[in-house]
Amino acid sequence: MRKTLLLLLAICSLNLFGKTDVLPLVPLPASVETGSGSYTLPPASRIYCPRFAGDSINQVAARFAHEAERTTGLCFRPEKKLRKANIRLLLDTALGAEAYRLQIDHKGIEIHAARPAGFFYALQTLKQLMPANVMAGVTAETARPISLPHISISDSPRFGWRGFMLDEGRHFFGKEEVKRILDVMAAHKMNRFHWHLTEDQGWRIEIKKYPRLTSVGAWRKSRTLPWGEVKADTLHYGGYYSQDDVREIVAYARERFIEIMPEIDMPGHFQAALAAYPELSCDPEQPHHVWVGQGVSADVMNVASPAALRFTKDVVDELTALFPFGYIHLGGDECPTYKWERNAECQALLGEIGSEKWRDLQTHFYKQVQDHIAAKPQAEQRRLIFWNEALHGNTSALGNATFMAWIGADGAALDAARRGFDNILSPQIPYYINRRQSKDADEPATQGYGDETLERVYAYAPAKNVPDSLLHRYKGVQANFWTEWVVDAATLEYLLLPRLAAVAEAGWTPQARRDFADFRRRMRPVTNYYKQAGLNFCPKQLAE
Ligand code: ACM
Repeated sequence: MRKTLLLLLAICSLNLFGKTDVLPLVPLPASVETGSGSYTLPPASRIYCPRFAGDSINQVAARFAHEAERTTGLCFRPEKKLRKANIRLLLDTALGAEAYRLQIDHKGIEIHAARPAGFFYALQTLKQLMPANVMAGVTAETARPISLPHISISDSPRFGWRGFMLDEGRHFFGKEEVKRILDVMAAHKMNRFHWHLTEDQGWRIEIKKYPRLTSVGAWRKSRTLPWGEVKADTLHYGGYYSQDDVREIVAYARERFIEIMPEIDMPGHFQAALAAYPELSCDPEQPHHVWVGQGVSADVMNVASPAALRFTKDVVDELTALFPFGYIHLGGDECPTYKWERNAECQALLGEIGSEKWRDLQTHFYKQVQDHIAAKPQAEQRRLIFWNEALHGNTSALGNATFMAWIGADGAALDAARRGFDNILSPQIPYYINRRQSKDADEPATQGYGDETLERVYAYAPAKNVPDSLLHRYKGVQANFWTEWVVDAATLEYLLLPRLAAVAEAGWTPQARRDFADFRRRMRPVTNYYKQAGLNFCPKQLAE
């Protein structure tokens, strides 16, 4: 019986991977050399992980073993003796935190890394080389031998920030969909989930001190947001994440080496909060509603109001307790100053700070929030991130702020870098991957004209022509997904994939190794994983 099984394993593994096979590696590692042979995992694999490596590396190995057992039906067990193991995790402290080496040859699988993240990414690469159901987390119908190509990979990411932003203010997708997105991000080695949790059209996170944010601010009078042909409906629509939900999602993300950055958009895009707490507005006596509309609302926070400052500090305190990541995003985009110009408190404050520029009220407000954070203990320190419009205010006192460049992104990022600020590149064109990806008539109705094709997204070259002396300010790249038009998860995924993978590769792979035709070739087998995971994706632009 044992002999038959071994024979079967040998036959099944013959030439499954030859030199001409396209490996489903997205993002492409920094260096890949393939050999001509293959290695077949035995029915019971033994994983060596140095005990002294620490709990978190052992946890990474244990999670991999558990998932691999569940999905393949083969055994993956810990092994204390190095020479008996066929999957060997070894420390190389000279490597960077996310770097790894992966070697597969006739002796088995050997991984070197310095930190848990490096081991995680090595094992993600290993999963990419296994049948697609493994990455998809789906159990194979029958336990089959798994053959892996002889390969030598030496890898580390280009950027430390490989992000994706989801707007849940306009539409609420819920916990399970967020987890699906975190899974696909991790499959492509992305590591920052920017959670856009508040908008004019909805507030989506429970804040204990301000319960009306969710009892009032999370609900509106139409599911669709009217624009052009799209009309409002009559649904009572909304939803939000409880603090328990948030903790669950943060933990889920961290197991996948993804940090979550919450965004509370202010002082603009703040109308849902004003519906709940009109006293934070410039005209509390007027009615304020959760917005059923699109565009830029003039109903913004009163940045001169002590109540608004107190509110923001309180919200930041609750966010700090919920999100361990070192950054909080406080918005800053698209904030008309019209209401400030007519408000006595704002007029007085502008005089007090000795400025004639209304935008300076916004940066003055942010500075006070930053000072509040600076007074906290070390473990509660958080850096603030703003959209690049905030650069138009007096930023000289904003210290360690980071600017997320979206409009005129390359110029704005350079401006921020020259002024001594870090930046993240999320150019509206082409990294707003909620926009139409083709001019085909059957594409879902959304923003754009069909120009943000997969190829165009892929072609964006981050930090091009940036002087070497400023490159250290360029922290990474991020795809953004706005949901004014996107009501359901199937449409979200269809627009997201595979363009998200193109951005992931820009964040990970050295620019000199990036090539669209090669990316597209590697993406085709990656779609087996999308299919097995039940992800909706757009296959059209993957054909030759
Ligand atoms: C933005 O697109 N308003 C950041």
